Amino acid sequence: MGYNKTLIMLPGPTNVADEVLEAMKESVINHRGEDFHKLYNEIQDLLKYVYQTENFIATLSSSGTGGVEFAVTNFIRKNDKVITYTAGEFSERMYEKIKSVGAEVIRIKKDLGDTMSFDDFMNVLDDNRDATCLAIVFNETSTGTSVWDLEKILKVAKEKGMLTIVDSVSALGGVDLPTDRLGIDVHITGSQKCLACPPGLAFVSVSKEAIKKNEGISNYGYFDLKSYLKFHEKKETPYTPALPLFFALRASLRKIKEEGLDNVFQRHKRCSDMLYSFAAKEKLEIFPKEYARSLTVVAMKTPQDKKASDIVNIMRREHNIEIAKGFGELNEKVIRVGCMGIINEKIVEKTTQALKITMEKIKSIPS
Ligand SMILES: Cc1ncc(COP(=O)(O)O)c(C=O)c1O
Repeated sequence: MGYNKTLIMLPGPTNVADEVLEAMKESVINHRGEDFHKLYNEIQDLLKYVYQTENFIATLSSSGTGGVEFAVTNFIRKNDKVITYTAGEFSERMYEKIKSVGAEVIRIKKDLGDTMSFDDFMNVLDDNRDATCLAIVFNETSTGTSVWDLEKILKVAKEKGMLTIVDSVSALGGVDLPTDRLGIDVHITGSQKCLACPPGLAFVSVSKEAIKKNEGISNYGYFDLKSYLKFHEKKETPYTPALPLFFALRASLRKIKEEGLDNVFQRHKRCSDMLYSFAAKEKLEIFPKEYARSLTVVAMKTPQDKKASDIVNIMRREHNIEIAKGFGELNEKVIRVGCMGIINEKIVEKTTQALKITMEKIKSIPS
């Protein structure tokens, strides 16, 4: 990545390597021809590697929200009883989407900065033995929290015969989330976060159990799983794919494979450790509860009486670095730094140096 460019430290989209951007120049081929079939096959294989799954993965020409919509509308129906949690913008959206298909939703409502625990799940499960599905956001990007009890929660959910849906839009490819070993039936992610590809693609892995469940669900339209499965046989997508993004994706996934998943995960961890250590050293309060802290989105409280937008603006104007404000009621109260994709120590160092100067400067700005 050229350093004359703006450094994108957002919780998505993230920085994209030059070779990945370059790959998009190869853009127009026949999406019903042999070259596309090869591209499609390679992408399936590379995605399986990153997802750690043997399952089919639908590649959607849509943003991550399309992935969530695909997951909910293909696998949840009116007579389902779904357990979910809310603790921020994206878990709220998932909750609303599940409600919109008419299912009964059992919501574990947590405070912003907190997350769903194994005990929360077990308490709710006790009263809802007839629940058919668990649908949750693993990494709540709006508050910088993760469901670290995921493995235990999924184990019980699968033992109870529930279908499991996980939104890992801002974590898959940066955090070790082995789809098959964890028992995730429907696993959602997007191109523009840890996969370090430009925005515009969403991915959903689908287990055999989920495919079976979908047989009884009619979901005619752009996100109909049955069409994606039918065209998958031909190594194609049902509708015209966003070709430039497919080329970019192949390039970014090749880079991940070349580095090796374990190395990629360790790099993300080292970088988020650096960000959390910086915050501790500079006495910047971390927003989430300690046990809930995300490895890919670091959310810090804005110093008393200061506005997140002032910090974000100084970072942009004076340091050419993009970081994000909070969401909704956290808008001016939190700053969020993304730690995803081609993140490395040098980039984090540059960001923390700029943030240190910015935090000093902000003291003299009247609140
Ligand atoms: C956890 C989570 N889910 C879903 C989405 C929606 O993705 P998109 O904005 O690409 O539609 C996001 C986006 O940031 C996200 O962080």
